[in-house]
Amino acid sequence: MLASHVPPWWSDVASDSRLLSRAGSTSLLYVHATDRELPPEEPSGHFPTRAPSRRTCRTGHAMSVSLAPKATAPAGIHWQQVIAQFDYPVVFCSDSLTPGAEQLRWTICRNATSETHRHPVIFCIDAGVSAAWPHVEQSVVDYVAAHSDQLELRAAPLLVPAGEACKNDPDVHSSLVEALASSRMDRQACVVAIGGGAVLDAVGYAAALVHRGVRLVRMPTTVLAQNDAGVGVKNGVNAFGAKNFLGTFCPPFGVINDSRWLDTLPRRDIRAGLAEAVKVSTIRDPNFFDWLEANAPALSRCGPLLDESVRRAALLHLEHIRCSGDPFELGSARPLDYGHWSAHKLETLSGHELRHGEAVAIGMALDATYAHRIGLLDATAFGRLLSVIEALGLPLFHPALDERRDGQRAILGGLEEFREHLGGVLSVTLLRSIGTPIEAHSMDQAHIEASIDWLRDRAGG
Ligand SMILES: NC(=O)c1ccc[n+]([C@@H]2O[C@H](COP(=O)([O-])OP(=O)(O)OC[C@H]3O[C@@H](n4cnc5c(N)ncnc54)[C@H](O)[C@@H]3O)[C@@H](O)[C@H]2O)c1
Ligand SMILES: [Zn+2]
Repeated sequence: MLASHVPPWWSDVASDSRLLSRAGSTSLLYVHATDRELPPEEPSGHFPTRAPSRRTCRTGHAMSVSLAPKATAPAGIHWQQVIAQFDYPVVFCSDSLTPGAEQLRWTICRNATSETHRHPVIFCIDAGVSAAWPHVEQSVVDYVAAHSDQLELRAAPLLVPAGEACKNDPDVHSSLVEALASSRMDRQACVVAIGGGAVLDAVGYAAALVHRGVRLVRMPTTVLAQNDAGVGVKNGVNAFGAKNFLGTFCPPFGVINDSRWLDTLPRRDIRAGLAEAVKVSTIRDPNFFDWLEANAPALSRCGPLLDESVRRAALLHLEHIRCSGDPFELGSARPLDYGHWSAHKLETLSGHELRHGEAVAIGMALDATYAHRIGLLDATAFGRLLSVIEALGLPLFHPALDERRDGQRAILGGLEEFREHLGGVLSVTLLRSIGTPIEAHSMDQAHIEASIDWLRDRAGG
């Protein structure tokens, strides 16, 4: 008789401690389902119960997640298991496009099976980066020429519209896909994306679609892209009025975090990137939060402190993705999205006048004010968080928080959109203390509105 109950259907992400310790690379082991045949004669008619393992990461965070469905399964099921491991290097360096530099060549060619194989490569460059670095297109051509024994440039470097515009415009998406098709990129070929988080997201999306995924090497050029967007496993573009409505989970082939790019980054974008450093510190690392607090006034300038902040925040993001147990966000808990339910909505409501990081700063301030109002976050931690945001020169408030549609504050629509994105149950990360996030499954509208009013006053708006 076949089993009449669901086996412990679970998805479990584990991380191998040997891989964790491998310098300079991050590794995910993703166990997607089980492929055990239904045991023909399980005495009780059930599968042996097998609870998901609860291993812990180096920092003590739980690493596995149980997604066991409650439903009873019909008979006649073959359980399929697919195990896929993803491994990619994140290289911290500077001057990686000088012809003699090895990092990019090594990253692209590291899996080469033949010494004579030349890797087809194409560069997609953020137009804002090209404006700030007028020689960047020639530099990539010269770089490939200097490594022509192993690299083959398939097309002239492609300029991608800067900032959120490239994620908003469907014509940009289709022209990126067309460019990859016309340069005959195959699954062993490599797209190198150079730019801020928006360009990396848009190019990453195109690269993930062509041939179901060509290799993507990211060269992030903003603080936010180096400490968050560029090192993670997601891409996306905006559609139907919603942020990142289209996108895929697709780990990159490699990431080159070159600090030299930050020399030309406007202060505003440096600060915006630091908002994601604050975010990841509040959910994972109180020591890093202390460090950001102590160094906030000096951090919005380039230099060793900024480099250290980028590196620490990038490693924390990588650690969370590797260890949290849900790298592809199958569950509803999203600690890395702390402050983001309102941030994404605010970006759209402000017509993308707000940078993503600025919106995240406001979103964190709003959720911290809310958590304090409902008695979850104590006054000291609340005050410290707001002060760090201010000391970094980031906003606590934007008039779009007050925008009304059909008599209702439009920002509240962000909660529903967030719930829809998660699918079903709302799960919003709130802070119990710095470094201790919890998941809330509802938020009280009156408290949200009162929090907005309070923040407007605090910001002097
Ligand atoms: N995929 C993910 O996991 C993830 C995570 C966080 C954020 N994001 C996305 O990242 C985007 C925000 O990225 P961002 O903060 O890097 O902003 P951005 O990509 O919009 O870039 C901001 C501006 O800086 C310019 N710029 C980039 N590098 C420069 C340099 N070195 N010198 C001078 N100018 C430079 C760009 O041309 C642009 O005008 C948002 O779309 C957000 O949704 C994605
Ligand atoms: Zn973000």
